[in-house]
Amino acid sequence: MTNPSDATLVIIPTYNELENLPLIVGRVRAATPEVDILVVDDNSPDGTGDKADELAAEDARINVLHRESKGGLCGAYVAGFQWGLEREYTVLCEMDADGSHAPEQLHLLLSEIDSGADLVIGSRYVPGGKVVNWPKKRWILSKGGNAYISFMLGGGLSDMTAGYRAYRREVLEAMDLDELSNAGYIFQVDLAWRAVVGGFDVREVPITFTEREIGESKLDGSFVKDSLVEVTRWGVRHRAGQAAEIAKVTKGMLGYEFKHWQRSRRR
Ligand code: GDD
Ligand code: MN
Repeated sequence: MTNPSDATLVIIPTYNELENLPLIVGRVRAATPEVDILVVDDNSPDGTGDKADELAAEDARINVLHRESKGGLCGAYVAGFQWGLEREYTVLCEMDADGSHAPEQLHLLLSEIDSGADLVIGSRYVPGGKVVNWPKKRWILSKGGNAYISFMLGGGLSDMTAGYRAYRREVLEAMDLDELSNAGYIFQVDLAWRAVVGGFDVREVPITFTEREIGESKLDGSFVKDSLVEVTRWGVRHRAGQAAEIAKVTKGMLGYEFKHWQRSRRR
């Protein structure tokens, strides 16, 4: 029997991950030997791109996409998605290079896809999900931010900023990827929400997210504020749209009732 996950591409974006790259690639190859890997490197000054080429030269399952300069995580993923969609992959995954997303848990995402999901999010905040080595403050910020996002947008997801994911190609094909907001990691929320609104089957599976031990996070503080402002705008617009829709339907129904009532009085 064939499963969608039989043709899976794992996209790993890198910016200055020289030490992490061989570790993560080795772990993916060991845990799920049947998936292909695409490293998307933004011309890392530390030579991660050359290291990726070395790894790719030794292993046909490893591919590299070089971009000219640091263009943000969203741009790197969009380039990776387009690369994969041009080829025969049926499932495309997102995975950090720094070890935060355990390749040993990838099968949890893929088996959910094979049982019918369109998008699977490896979630820190569903029961069973965990975060290892985060200061309490960062956990509260992320968990609270996600609770706020979920409240504003609806959709019932508890980790919409998460970056460990598996998409069926149809989900990505249905979206205009060039429209995504490149600010910080808000595109992750954008993608999840578009999938929900588009009627796709979006599920979360619990994962253990482990903070990186090597190298530095590229997240800057402005991300949190920018994201929450953006999400608030979407939520308000969405609800205004819903309210307008309800008003239209109600008006139509009332008008119909009124006409009938008039007619029955005339008789
Ligand atoms: N090519 C490329 N270009 N890669 C990038 C860029 C970029 O501009 N910025 C970051 N990356 C790569 C990093 O090298 C790493 O592999 C991955 O993207 C995640 O970057 P981190 O800097 O480690 O992100 P984080 O740990 O702060 O953020 C995590 O949590 C976010 C919020 O939940 C990630 O898992 C995000 O995906 C997630 O949205
Ligand atoms: Mn990280």
